Amino acid sequence: MKVLSVTSEVFPLVKTGGLADVTGSLPKALQRCGIETITLVPGYPAVLQKLGSAPPLLLFDDLLGERASLLYGRVDGLSIFALHCPALYLREGGPYVNSGGIDHSDNWKRFAVLSLAAAELADGALPGWIPELVHTHDWQTALTSVYMREMSLPTPVVLTIHNIAFQGQFPAGLLPALGLRPDLYSMDCLEYFGDISYLKGGLRTSDVITTVSPTYAREILTPRFGMGMDGVLNERVAALRGIVNGIDLDVWNPAADPHLPVTYDATSLKRKRANRMALLGKFGLDAQDAGPVFSAVSRLTWQKGMDMLAETADEIIWNGGKLIVFGQGDHAIEQQLMEVAGRHPGRMAVRIGYDEPTAHLIHGGSDAIVQPSRFEPCGLTQLYALRYGAVPVVSRTGGLSETIIDANDAAMSARVATGFQFHPVTVDGLRMALRRALHVYQDPKQWARLQNQGMKAKFSWDRSAQQYATVYASLVRKAASSPV
Ligand code: ADP
Ligand code: GLC
Repeated sequence: MKVLSVTSEVFPLVKTGGLADVTGSLPKALQRCGIETITLVPGYPAVLQKLGSAPPLLLFDDLLGERASLLYGRVDGLSIFALHCPALYLREGGPYVNSGGIDHSDNWKRFAVLSLAAAELADGALPGWIPELVHTHDWQTALTSVYMREMSLPTPVVLTIHNIAFQGQFPAGLLPALGLRPDLYSMDCLEYFGDISYLKGGLRTSDVITTVSPTYAREILTPRFGMGMDGVLNERVAALRGIVNGIDLDVWNPAADPHLPVTYDATSLKRKRANRMALLGKFGLDAQDAGPVFSAVSRLTWQKGMDMLAETADEIIWNGGKLIVFGQGDHAIEQQLMEVAGRHPGRMAVRIGYDEPTAHLIHGGSDAIVQPSRFEPCGLTQLYALRYGAVPVVSRTGGLSETIIDANDAAMSARVATGFQFHPVTVDGLRMALRRALHVYQDPKQWARLQNQGMKAKFSWDRSAQQYATVYASLVRKAASSPV
C-alpha cells in the first residue's frame, strides 16, 4: 500500500518536539507491515541540505499563487518529498517561528500550501506515484482533507492529533486567499468562534481521526481537555481512535548511543555512573555526593508543568538530590526556573536551549526524569527515560498514565512498577511523588529493581504500527468498494 504522510516536521531532518520523532519513526515500522510511506515536508533549509542536489520531480505552477517544485530523496531509511518553495520555506528561524521566536506571519499560507500540494499529489499530480491513503498530522496539515474533498477525491485520509492545544486558528477573511469556497466558513467545516480553524476543517473532513494514546482519546471528548474541539469530536466519536506512540529503538538505545560517553544496558547499569559524571560536569554541578540526579528535558511551558517543577525544586535539593532542567519555551517559566537555580548553586542547573546530543546525555546520566504535565497526549521523554534506566516521575494524565506503572506497594511487590505517578496534578501532588522517589532511592536494591523493570518495558512501534496498518487497510478496502 502507498501512503503519503504530510507533516511540518520529521526527524532527523527537522524537529521541534515529539511530532518529528513520530513522523520519523512510524514509516519505518509500517514498512514491516508492507506499507510504503513517502513523507511530504516543507523544503526548509535543513531539509534541502540533507536531500542534497535532488532534481525536481514535478513543478507546481500555482499553489495559492506560489510556484514550487517537488524534490525526492532517501534519508536514514525514510523516503522524503520536499516541497521546495523558497518564498515560503527558505528563511531563518524554526519551522514555525522566526529567529526572534515570533510566529512567521504567513504561517496560514505556508501550511495551506503544503496541504494543497499534498491534495494535488493525491489527485495524481505525479502519475508514477499516487497514494492510496493520506495521513496528516496536527493543524499544520489538516487542510489537506478539506482541499481533497473540494476536489471530490475518494482517497481516504487519516488525521492524527498530536496535541489539540494547537489548532491553526486564523481570521475568517483569509478564506478567499486559501482558494476555498465562502460557504466552507460554516459550523460544519472551518468556522471556529468567528475565525477559521485548520484543525477543525481536518476533523470534519478526515475519514478517521487518531490521537496518540487511548487515554487522551477519551480525555479530548471532555471540555477540560478538548480545548474547544470536544463538541466536534463528540460528533465524530465513531471515527476516533487512540493509538499509543512507539519509540525508535535504534535512535534511543543506551547500548549503542553515540551521544553517551559510556554505553550500557540492563546488565551493566553501573556504567551509567560515568555518564552521570559527564552530565554533572557539563551542567557545572557538584559531583562528589551520591544523591539522585533528577532532570527534565522538555518544552518549558504550562502544559509540561514546568512552573510546578520550579515550585517543588527545593524538595529535591533539601533531600540531597540535584536537579537539571534543559529546554526552552515560555519566558516567564524560564525565568522562574532560573531564579530557583540561582538559590542552589552546584545543586541545580537550568539551561535554555535545544540540542539532541544533550537530551541523550541527560537520559543517560540521570537517575530520574520528571514530567509533571498538566496534559500529555502521549509523551515520549518518559519512554526514553524508561529505556535509559532513568526512573520517570510523571503526572497521571494522557499517555503518561498508560505508559508508566506507579511504584505503589502492590506493583512493587509484583515487580512490575516502572516509575512514580501523581494525581491530582498539583504542586502538592508533585511534591509527594518526588518525596516517594527520594525515599525509594535510599534503598539501592529497590531503585535498581525499578530501573530494570523500566528497561524491560516494551515500547517498540510494532504493535502500534500494526494498529495503524489495520486502520489504513480497512479504509482503503472501503474506498475501493464504494461507488465513485
Ligand atoms: P512534546 O512533543 O509535547 O514536546 P514529547 O515528550 O512527545 O513532547 O517529545 C519531546 C521530544 O522533544 C523528545 O524527543 C525530547 O527529547 C525532545 N526535546 C524536548 N526538549 C528538548 C531540548 N531542549 N533539546 C533537545 N530535545 C528536546
Ligand atoms: C505532541 C504531544 C506529545 C506527543 C507528541 C508526539 O507534541 O504534546 O504528548 O508525544 O506530540 O505524538
